[in-house]
Amino acid sequence: MGFKTVVLAAGKGTRFKSELPKVLHPILGKPMLWYVVKAALEAGSEEVIVVVGHKRELVEEFLRENFPQVKTVYQSRQLGTGHAVAQCRELLENYSGKVVVLNGDTPLVRPEDIKAVASTPGDMVVLTAKTEDPTGYGRVVRDGNAVLKIVEEKDATPEERLITEINTGIYAFSAEPLFRALEQIDNNNAQGEYYLPDVLKVFQKEGLSVVPVLTSDFESVMGVNNRHQLAAAESVMRDRIVKELQLSGVTVHNPQTVYVEPDVTVEPDVELFGPLYLRGKTVIKKGTVVGPFCDIRDSFIGEGCTVESHCWMSGATLKGGASCGPFSRLREGTVLEGGSRVGSFVETKKAHLKEGAKANHLTYLGDCTVGENTNVGAGTITCNYDGFAKWRTEIGRNVFVGSNTLFIAPVKVGDGAITAAGSVITRDVPDNALAVARSKQVNYPGKAESVREKARKRAEEARGDNPRQNS
Ligand code: UD1
Ligand code: CA
Repeated sequence: MGFKTVVLAAGKGTRFKSELPKVLHPILGKPMLWYVVKAALEAGSEEVIVVVGHKRELVEEFLRENFPQVKTVYQSRQLGTGHAVAQCRELLENYSGKVVVLNGDTPLVRPEDIKAVASTPGDMVVLTAKTEDPTGYGRVVRDGNAVLKIVEEKDATPEERLITEINTGIYAFSAEPLFRALEQIDNNNAQGEYYLPDVLKVFQKEGLSVVPVLTSDFESVMGVNNRHQLAAAESVMRDRIVKELQLSGVTVHNPQTVYVEPDVTVEPDVELFGPLYLRGKTVIKKGTVVGPFCDIRDSFIGEGCTVESHCWMSGATLKGGASCGPFSRLREGTVLEGGSRVGSFVETKKAHLKEGAKANHLTYLGDCTVGENTNVGAGTITCNYDGFAKWRTEIGRNVFVGSNTLFIAPVKVGDGAITAAGSVITRDVPDNALAVARSKQVNYPGKAESVREKARKRAEEARGDNPRQNS
């Protein structure tokens, strides 16, 4: 049977001490709420309604951009979880199926758990879990199989606080009695709030069924109320993603230090060395090796590439067989064709290196093309910015760029040309030409000694140990 889902996301998240609403705090680069809504949709929810309140504009904007199909309901004052669900009455008025309720701060919830709750018969099905440290959670007070009550920690007696079975905040209710019951709950409790779990009391009075479902996996239902728990939840999610990669054929060294965001794709037979960050929509094709200490965002790395340690990449494309690092910084629009390579302390931006092109050391390549099999010497810089606009440098194929060449863009270098080391290239270089743009060397025989003598005297004078000076 189908079901609809209400996600509670109106709270401020006081314990986060943040300007940002709690549910927008990220786990692996995605807001917590993203995971909750995604799990609900994956579980087959017909509709997802998110209750927004605190900084609603931000939450609504996030939802519009990521889940346009999701509806929102506004809770103007955060009077409690029961009050929050009650705001959905109108939207669910004629609905007689099951309503699943999820907390926006339970990001690890799995679609399986949602399905289990939604498909268990009962007017109120509550997912519970056991944990050694139940601090902060509502406790489930049982009599055998039956649930007698759910009591919030702040309202619990010392004995009740010892109970280790907790309310996960994940429920499935029959829609019609739920909204009737929400009219009857009160806020006579330690927090002065309308508690959703109090629906249980009303259901018991009306003789409706309350059914607990105990999950063995506490981790998946942990609530995130502060940044310490946020880090714990992120670490669980990270483990899940890394394990999925491992089982799909990716070798991961030092896996506890490999951070992979959920939209990243890594193909089988890739080898990853931690510590490592893979972010955004990064794609890594099979047979590629990525060394440790790399931070790679929104980049495409083709088959059989080598990324050595300490590389930073954003919006870069490496075609099959390209390589970079150690210590390369590849910025947006960088394209390394097959067999091309950039090495240590090389920065690139909108640089297109054709097949077999190489820039191995200490170089800046911005707004340029480097032709097939061209070699760029150490210390080369494309001077692309004149203070007003960016200009391109076009370097042909089989060019030998001497060390420490400066290209004052816009400028073109023809195929097969050579630039002499230390040249400042301001004009186009024809095919096969040698461009020398530096002053000619002059040798003065024996002059070194007189230069040294002059320097020695000057130093003595500065120290004040010259007798003529002291008199
Ligand atoms: C809640 C449960 C507790 C359970 C725990 C599981 C209640 C009263 N308590 O406690 O039994 O063990 O979750 O994690 O339900 N929210 C609103 N509007 C409000 C208040 C809260 O939308 O007026 C939202 C919050 O943004 C949050 C969620 O509801 O996403 C839960 O609220 P929170 O204050 O975190 O409840 P807990 O104290 O964790
Ligand atoms: Ca919570």
